[in-house]
Amino acid sequence: MYAYTYTEYGSPDVLNYVELPTPTPKANEVLIRIVATTVSAGDWRARSLTMPAGLGLVGRLVFGVTRPRKPVLGTELSGIIEAVGADVTTFQPGDAVIGFPGAGFGAHAEYITMPADGKIARKPENLNFEEAAAIPFGATTAYDFLINKGKLRAGERVLINGASGSVGSACVQIAKHFGAEVTGVCSAANADLVREIGADHVIDYNAEDFAKEGPLYDMVVDTVGTAPWFRTRHALVPKGCMLMIAGSTSDMILGRLKARLRGKRMIGGVASEAVSILSKVVDLSAAGDFHPVIDRNFDFSQMVAAHAHVDTGHKKGNVVVTVTPTGSTGVHADRDLQLVGTANV
Ligand SMILES: NC(=O)c1ccc[n+]([C@@H]2O[C@H](COP(=O)([O-])OP(=O)(O)OC[C@H]3O[C@@H](n4cnc5c(N)ncnc54)[C@H](OP(=O)(O)O)[C@@H]3O)[C@@H](O)[C@H]2O)c1
Repeated sequence: MYAYTYTEYGSPDVLNYVELPTPTPKANEVLIRIVATTVSAGDWRARSLTMPAGLGLVGRLVFGVTRPRKPVLGTELSGIIEAVGADVTTFQPGDAVIGFPGAGFGAHAEYITMPADGKIARKPENLNFEEAAAIPFGATTAYDFLINKGKLRAGERVLINGASGSVGSACVQIAKHFGAEVTGVCSAANADLVREIGADHVIDYNAEDFAKEGPLYDMVVDTVGTAPWFRTRHALVPKGCMLMIAGSTSDMILGRLKARLRGKRMIGGVASEAVSILSKVVDLSAAGDFHPVIDRNFDFSQMVAAHAHVDTGHKKGNVVVTVTPTGSTGVHADRDLQLVGTANV
């Protein structure tokens, strides 16, 4: 199979298009032929080793001290089960699925093996493969923070900073679905998009500072890292809650303490990648209550360009890469691809 690997941290140019052995599923695993994947903020962080302030060392410990430990990026995918291990009874060849390797990565390839009882869900029929691949990363983060950690309640006023990103656009839709009154903070260029996906109010971050003027919120969600606790606390009602999905380490630790001293809550940390959350957001998509926003769809041969687009920090929702167009045999030899080397993973 073909895949993109990286052996050093850096710009999108560190990616190599290589031929690797197609993995063989173990007894409890399935082999998935990947139809579509995305380039997520997780891929950008792991490839460039760009970490939130204070987490540089942790980044190296997680991703590899001197060089990347997991050479194939890709946190989410949609595809078709190609083969199943001897003990697998829940899936069979031909099943259309969504996979969420998440921090395990590995989806920037033509094939991946995953445990059958792992982070896999059946692809809803109302979504195409490109849409389906863009569900896990943003929506599970949004669901875990808003619903599991934040305990969002219907009727609450919620502000989402970064409402046009992958996580932010999922936060807008999920908060709205659970009955919140949603304010999205984005640039003027993305205001219509953010309204279309359900925001009741939109604030242009270049024109207005939500923390200095305007109403107070029951919950403020920062998906960008530009709303630290010292700013956000002014925008919260008494007993209000801040969800720090992106932010500095010191804020995640000290902000929590400072919030408690003021009778408020600040919740940071890492989103759970539990399969139960994946199932919930896929169910929301199947019911038409969540639809991933797609910015651009790249071909597998354009993986470097897809990374470069994500590196701008200004994508709208998700950047999708079609690996194996449905109907294709999965062989890319006839495409204009530059084979720069081979490697074993
Ligand atoms: N804690 C966790 O477990 C967890 C899980 C997943 C992701 N994350 C983190 O969450 C962050 C967001 O991820 P993502 O996938 O949503 O990123 P993303 O899609 O790349 O975010 C891009 C969006 O951010 C918007 N943006 C940029 N600057 C902004 C500003 N100053 N104010 C408001 N919006 C701004 C951009 O809109 P404009 O073009 O209009 O500026 C763009 O639409 C990343 O740092 C990621 O690492 C954390």
